[in-house]
Amino acid sequence: MWQFLFVRFSIFVVGYMYMDIFETITSLAKRRGFIYPGSDIYGGLAGTWDYGPLGVELKRNIKNEYWKTMVQMRSDVVGIDAAIIMAPKVWEASGHLESFADPLSECKKCHHRFRADTIIPEELFNAEKFDIADYKCPDCGGALTEPKRFSTLVETYLGVIEGEKLKTYLRGEITQGVHVNFKNVLDSSRVKLPFGIAQIGKAFRNEITPGEFTFRSREFEQMELQFYVKPNEEESMKWFEYWKEERRKWYLSLGMREENLHFKKHVKLAHYAKAAYDVEYNAGGDWKEMEGIHHRGTWDLSRHEQFSKQDLTYFDEETKERYTPMVIETSGGVDRATLFFLMDAYREEETKPGETRVVLKLHPKLAPYKAAVFPLLSNKPELVKLAEGIYKDLKQDWMIAWDARGNIGKRYRAQDEAGTPYCFTIDFESLENQDVTVRDRDTMTQERVKIADLKDFLRKKLV
Ligand code: GAP
Repeated sequence: MWQFLFVRFSIFVVGYMYMDIFETITSLAKRRGFIYPGSDIYGGLAGTWDYGPLGVELKRNIKNEYWKTMVQMRSDVVGIDAAIIMAPKVWEASGHLESFADPLSECKKCHHRFRADTIIPEELFNAEKFDIADYKCPDCGGALTEPKRFSTLVETYLGVIEGEKLKTYLRGEITQGVHVNFKNVLDSSRVKLPFGIAQIGKAFRNEITPGEFTFRSREFEQMELQFYVKPNEEESMKWFEYWKEERRKWYLSLGMREENLHFKKHVKLAHYAKAAYDVEYNAGGDWKEMEGIHHRGTWDLSRHEQFSKQDLTYFDEETKERYTPMVIETSGGVDRATLFFLMDAYREEETKPGETRVVLKLHPKLAPYKAAVFPLLSNKPELVKLAEGIYKDLKQDWMIAWDARGNIGKRYRAQDEAGTPYCFTIDFESLENQDVTVRDRDTMTQERVKIADLKDFLRKKLV
């Protein structure tokens, strides 16, 4: 009995913490212009989200950092940007038409639909050791139907003549655009195995239960690497371990707290995978998938070879062998990374007894604005002119905020919530000494820096 109560209580506490951080970030995101519900003025469209002025910068910074680490800084990875709509045969070859489905259960009473694997505990569901009669509708307590497979591919139609339109799909993963271009990249660039092709782009899934803010959306962005290696079990597993660690290090290098990251091994593998781990993030006590690291074997290239009847093998100049490479994939969600970087950065801090501030301690590389410029409220036109000059000059290199309203304390609070690492206040002394007050977001300390040194100051802080 006690054990039962303890488990119920823990679920309540964990559930409470989890709901809290999701709710807190959802409300901050809308209030401050990070993320809004899609089609908001029409009541929203489930599973779609729009990024506002701050969100678009944060998301772009995440993508830029990804590209810099995964492509720019490496000599064994190149990039690609493939079309979202592909020939329908691609999805047959990739196995998506056959296997890209979620288990759907419907409530016999209220007719709400659910993903059965979110109602039945994972281990029982995966082992198919459950009786659906033991589980009830989370909304009304009604009985549920046996889970049925529901394809999550989003259909679309191309062409101008009604009745002759080509039925195809919005890509369910960005992966296939890379594999169908394997030969093009081999023939047009100087890559040699082992090498990778990276891509960032939109993917679409008709999720049964979109929700938990942007975590499960119907339109979302992925950042992926397909890394081609020799078809040798031992060597490929070394690369698998290497990429697992590289991806973990990337999140840490951008300030994510180590205690909030871990790996989870997949027990049930996707149709293409030989081994798989998730990089999970601790979202208020509940571990959530942020990125997948998959050993895809030779699945993709051999299937596209079979369906396209093109030779997609690789000729190894050193060993004079011809073979189909294996693939190690790292597949991250840009929206999930954005959400979890926001959660990880969020703090409520007591600044003095009875006074708290909300601050986003985002890594300066990710912060939407790198600095804010504040002219002191004054009717001296030369002071505003000096501030405008600084603002315009800094804007040549970075996203810089301008705020000339209200008292300086309020302006600091607004920038804290936006995650702006530095605020530059231009005051009367600035006119005399050609310097400004620089206030640090995290420590709230202040120092004077010469106007001529401001660019150097920021450059040093942004590494
Ligand atoms: N190419 C392999 C692949 O797509 P996945 O585990 O289905 O693998 C990879 O997806 C990542 O894409 C996930 O770890 C997650 O970050 C993101 N993702 C998947 N479905 C999503 C959804 N409905 N909403 C937001 N992000 C999603």
